[in-house]
This record gives sequence, C-alpha cells and structure tokens, in this order.
Amino acid sequence: MSELAVDVSNLNYKYPDGTWALRNVSLKVYAGESVLLLGISGVGKSTLLMNLNGLLTPTEGTIHIFGKKVIEKNLREIRRRVGFVFQNPENQLFCPTLWDDVAFGPINMGLSQEEVEERVDWALKLVGLKAYAEKPPHHLSFGEKRRAAIATILSMEPDILLLDEPTANLDPKGVENIISILRDISSKGKTIIIATHDVNILPQITDRTVIMYNGKIKAVGRTAEILSDIATLEKYGLKLPLVGQLFHNLESNHKLPLYGGLPITIGSAEEKILELLGRNKK
Ligand SMILES: Nc1ncnc2c1ncn2[C@@H]1O[C@H](COP(=O)(O)OP(=O)(O)OP(=O)(O)O)[C@@H](O)[C@H]1O
Ligand SMILES: [Mg+2]
Repeated sequence: MSELAVDVSNLNYKYPDGTWALRNVSLKVYAGESVLLLGISGVGKSTLLMNLNGLLTPTEGTIHIFGKKVIEKNLREIRRRVGFVFQNPENQLFCPTLWDDVAFGPINMGLSQEEVEERVDWALKLVGLKAYAEKPPHHLSFGEKRRAAIATILSMEPDILLLDEPTANLDPKGVENIISILRDISSKGKTIIIATHDVNILPQITDRTVIMYNGKIKAVGRTAEILSDIATLEKYGLKLPLVGQLFHNLESNHKLPLYGGLPITIGSAEEKILELLGRNKK
C-alpha cells in the first residue's frame, strides 16, 4: 500500500453565516492516486478542497497531509506540497507577464534564479504555453488562462494537486488539453483530486470516485463501479455518463447482454462493442 497523502478525519466545516457545508467527512487518499470528487452544485466540493490546503480551517475534525496536520504553523509546508487550481483562473493570474505569474511561486519558495527559470520553462512547456511567456495573462483566451493557472501551481512542484472544475467552460479541444495535462501529471506520480459535477469528462483519468451530497460523503469506490451504479448516482442527483446511459438503454430496452459491467468511457465502450461483435481489439 502506498503512502497516505491525504487523511481527513471527521471533518465538519461551518461558514461564518452558520451554514454547515461539510458534515463528518472522512477520506483517505493515497500517494499517486487520482480521485474524482463528484457532486451536484452546493454539496461542499470546493469547501472540502479549500480545507485540504488550509485556505479554510476545519470547524471540527482533522486533516493530515503526508502525516502533517493542517494547522497554522504547518501551513507554509502544506501549501508547498498541496497546490490548488481555482475554478476561475483569473483568481490565480495577477502579474504583468505569464512568465512572472509562473515564476511567482518558485521565487517565493526561495529557489535560485536558475532553478526558477528551469521550473517556469518546464511548467509552461507542459501546458503548451511556452511561446506565451511574455504575454500579459489578461490577453490570454479563457482556455489558455486555465492552462496558465495550472502552470502557476505546477512550477511549485506540489505533491498533491487539487483542481476545482478544471474542465468547466472549455471547448472540446480545451477539455482534451486539460485531460492530457492531468494524465501527464498523474504519470509523474502526483496525487490529484478533481472536483466536478460532470460525469462525462474525467472518469477516464481517475482511479476512484467520491460522491458528495449535502456536505457528506455518500459513496467511495473505483470510478468504473461508482459511475455505472445508476441507483446511487440518481439518489444524489447525478446521471450515468452518456456512454453508460446508451448501454443501459440497450440492455434494458433491447436485452443487450452486458456481462462484465456497464462501460462508462469511450474506450471501454469500444471494447464492449467489439466483444459483442465477436471481434478482437487491434
Ligand atoms: N462564503 C460562504 N458563506 C456561507 N456559505 C457558503 C460560502 N461558500 C459556500 N457556502 C455554502 O456552502 C455549501 C457548499 O458550497 P461549495 O461551494 O463548497 O459547493 P460546491 O459543491 O463546490 O458547489 P459548485 O458545484 O456549485 O461549485 C453551499 O450550500 C454554499 O451555499
Ligand atoms: Mg465548487
């Protein structure tokens, strides 16, 4: 079993106006895992992410990051290890040039000029914005801003990446870009937690899915299992991914045999269709 990256224990969070946004949340995430934090609007996804890197302080309960408790005196180290990509990239870009924005974190960490340059170069290349280094961030398109915001976090080389709705408001190409960046980051052994309400986009890159509802965790399991469990999804206001819906309809309306479960990604659907046609995948 790999190292425990995130350990949330009986976390409750109350906003100053009295709203209890998280109730008795417990969750363990292991190093190198990619986790989808799924739930309809207002269930507490962003609040949970903000507690994980100390932007918000638990009202009750504890959070440990690689064994270190998230409390005031550890915040500097926690923030170095846990990077948070906000839903709105504009919250993360405030320097005169993109280069400055991506260099901001590494400079603050006290890295040498050479190391800073290396990291900025690497992060901008990874998100495909190397050619835009000298541009003012407010001149970038929305999709480019999203990738730029990811680069500002990657340059700090966090071990854990929290992303809040990273594919919202992007065109299909933009979504594809983000998926490929996240795949790349995940293959480097980073731990990733992604909050979203979209069941269609990110299952292909996440190992486990956590369903939240009304401030609580309601289901945790392998993504392929959770996202093909129609009863659980519907109970919490969610739907099957479109691919899964198609196969579910074929099964219930036309008795299509689905041994081995409902496919929920294009890739698994492709395999299933070939299997049903008696052909092997090339
Ligand atoms: N600053 C705040 N003060 C009071 N209540 C808040 C505040 N921010 C969020 N809430 C409430 O806390 C609950 C959880 O909000 P949160 O933003 O975490 O949900 P979410 O799952 O991220 O939703 P979405 O998918 O719409 O982003 C909601 O009921 C919301 O109204
Ligand atoms: Mg949110």
